[in-house]
Amino acid sequence: MTSTDQQPFLSVRDLKVHFSTEDGIVKAVDGLSFDVEKGKTLGIVGESGSGKSVTNLTILGLHDRDRTAIDGEILLDGKELLTATERELERLRGNKMAMIFQDALASLSPFHTIGKQIGETYRKHTGASKKEARARAIEMLRRVGIPQPDMRVDDYPHQFSGGMRQRAMIAMALVCDPELLIADEPTTALDVTVQAQIMDLLKDLQREFGTAIVFITHDLGVIADVADDVLVMYGGRCVERGTKKEVLRAPQHPYTLGLMSSMPSLDGPVDVPLSPIPGSPPSLLNPPSGCRFHPRCTFAEKVAGGLCSSERPALEVVAGRGSACHLSIGQRQEFFADFAASRH
Ligand SMILES: Nc1ncnc2c1ncn2[C@@H]1O[C@H](COP(=O)(O)OP(=O)(O)OP(=O)(O)O)[C@@H](O)[C@H]1O
Ligand code: SF4
Ligand SMILES: [Mg+2]
Repeated sequence: MTSTDQQPFLSVRDLKVHFSTEDGIVKAVDGLSFDVEKGKTLGIVGESGSGKSVTNLTILGLHDRDRTAIDGEILLDGKELLTATERELERLRGNKMAMIFQDALASLSPFHTIGKQIGETYRKHTGASKKEARARAIEMLRRVGIPQPDMRVDDYPHQFSGGMRQRAMIAMALVCDPELLIADEPTTALDVTVQAQIMDLLKDLQREFGTAIVFITHDLGVIADVADDVLVMYGGRCVERGTKKEVLRAPQHPYTLGLMSSMPSLDGPVDVPLSPIPGSPPSLLNPPSGCRFHPRCTFAEKVAGGLCSSERPALEVVAGRGSACHLSIGQRQEFFADFAASRH
């Protein structure tokens, strides 16, 4: 079955990724579901340790298999990835799905030229000759905006600037035209101008190839720029999802509201004081009971019967829009409006 049969290109269902450690079980991802369509970008946002990278490494099959218990479903173009063999996954990585990371140096070998590394990935998946692979590497470097690609193709990673290395990594990820690209904080280490250039580049490539992109970040400003849909993660779970417009214009979850209040306004007045979310992200070794956000939530006391600390709120999703909170939508609208007013 293909994604044209009205099935999303990537479909993650009730994913659980639990690590066995000396201290106990780390529930890094704990019942996560989402879809990504071809040609669309899903932005995944959440604080450090919320399970963003683990989710995406699991999609790619790059997790540590020995100490990891995984449950759920990951369908890529109809193919179940969790039961795929290492060989099948290796074929899919590069060909069908690829990933770019925050740190290009960690994913590029210092001992081989940029051209060789891009070319080898191409050869591995297509069986092209060395000559063809080199030509393809030059073409990819040109496409990601490296000047004089026919010269720079013979450079080693240390001869590239940080921004150029990031582009080279993108070139390597895209050399086999993957249909799914996972970008894990790919611009965080770069200065703002280069960040903007890289994001423009990803958008251009997406327009050209119809790539589905999962873009991981802790920065809502980046989400506002790149995403079509947004998934907000907290403590290994989705707390809110919807289109970018829905989530950023009218957040439904207190955590999303907290994230938005802790960063400069995207389009509002610049003099509104920032209010960081109190406390720190939960331990996933021993996560809070009930709603994992309850120890930090300013609205928890508004819910009767101590429900926030005793019962997990279900993620209720209607037509792709959903949030997991015990407050009624009406209550949230009222409380959030009061909260916004108190900040002015
Ligand atoms: N191999 C592992 N063994 C045990 N725990 C792990 C392992 N990998 C990740 N974790 C834990 O899983 C949780 C989620 O980690 P993850 O890397 O997905 O967070 P993240 O949302 O990507 O954070 P950041 O924004 O800092 O990159 C963390 O508590 C982390 O310590
Ligand atoms: S369920 Fe309770 S603690 Fe969790 S976000 Fe809603 S109000 Fe806050
Ligand atoms: Mg991460």
